Amino acid sequence: MAGRIDEEYQQLKAHTHQRVVDKLDEDGIEVAKSNRNRINDAITRAVHQHIAERRIPLSTQDLSQLARDMIDEVTGFGPLEPLLRDSRINDVLVNGPENVFVEISGVLQRAQARFVDDAHVVRVIRRILAPLGRRLDEASPMVDARLPDGSRVNAIIPPLALDGPSISIRKFNRHHLSAEELIRSGSMTEECLQVMINAVQSRRNILVSGGTGTGKTTMLNLISQYIPGNERILTIEDSAELVLNHQHVVRLETRPANTEGKGRISARELVVNALRMRPDRIILGEVRSSEIIELLQAMNTGHEGSMSTIHANGTRDALVRIETLLAVSGYEASEQAIGRLIGSALDMIIQLVRLPDGRRQVSEVVALTPTENEAYHLEYLYRSKEGVSA
Ligand SMILES: Nc1ncnc2c1ncn2[C@@H]1O[C@H](COP(=O)(O)OP(=O)(O)OP(=O)(O)O)[C@@H](O)[C@H]1O
Ligand SMILES: [Mg+2]
Repeated sequence: MAGRIDEEYQQLKAHTHQRVVDKLDEDGIEVAKSNRNRINDAITRAVHQHIAERRIPLSTQDLSQLARDMIDEVTGFGPLEPLLRDSRINDVLVNGPENVFVEISGVLQRAQARFVDDAHVVRVIRRILAPLGRRLDEASPMVDARLPDGSRVNAIIPPLALDGPSISIRKFNRHHLSAEELIRSGSMTEECLQVMINAVQSRRNILVSGGTGTGKTTMLNLISQYIPGNERILTIEDSAELVLNHQHVVRLETRPANTEGKGRISARELVVNALRMRPDRIILGEVRSSEIIELLQAMNTGHEGSMSTIHANGTRDALVRIETLLAVSGYEASEQAIGRLIGSALDMIIQLVRLPDGRRQVSEVVALTPTENEAYHLEYLYRSKEGVSA
């Protein structure tokens, strides 16, 4: 029964929306230019009028819910709005109109929200993209974008997405978790923190490794706070998430290709450029491609104390991933030379994991030291009790 009622409500929303849009039009109210309260009032009035005219039986509660939904629909990102406002939610995932999931405290769960149909999802995506001058259509069926508040958005539509248009949002959280919070929640120990602080202060080159959403960016941000305040820091990210309190920071952001497929500026180009900007340290949001070459070289040549993150499920995995990235980026050298490059450039890997109950944790902190016989020797400086890692 609940499904049918929900279906009815979706229908109600769809025709009320049309009516509200027409009414605003008639009254000459331009959403983009008008005062927020005025629009909200006008929408609420239009909703009440529509329901009264059509003699639709609705409880006061349902009526105000409908008015709120219409405000979100007309002035914001529709069904996504309440989820974006809810500060407990980190991720919002839309798999077609009827399947919306959210992540709260590390646990994925189904959300109440839903869209009317595929077209509705696409309309919301286009609304997100419009101010950015980006588009989504058959010619460019997938996009990365950012909401005004800094949240990261990826959208992909059929025929590439088989079950309807999909949206993945990682909400921007200006408040990065602090060391105290991570210790209190059991993500790491005081001892682990101290190991990391020492490494940062003695200018070790550090890679934070972990799977999707394990807290890599959070950790990178956290350890960056321990860089001495007088150093010149260059940050390079696909979309700026790091929040540093240093006085001497230059933030760079990569740029995707424009609608004609031109103008892309890669992380690799930015690392090269950053090296000409006299940085003391380079902080690269994530290594995922050929910028690995420049990053390792920078780490080796006077920019000690540089840091980045890498997507890997364990420290060994991270090392293999680096080798693979070097190989596919056309870095031609013997296996031995590649090992030596990694061994001399990289000093530490901080591995993050997500436990089955959703908690995130530093699983181990590993130091890499080159030796006479080996490219690098791994020494475990810290291991969590649960210490599960590949
Ligand atoms: N130790 C932690 N405990 C609880 N929540 C955390 C922890 N670390 C990070 N988070 C939260 O998890 C979400 C994802 O964190 P973050 O962006 O740092 O992960 P990530 O590994 O960089 O993700 P991605 O793979 O998408 O880049 C954020 O909302 C963050 O606040
Ligand atoms: Mg990240």
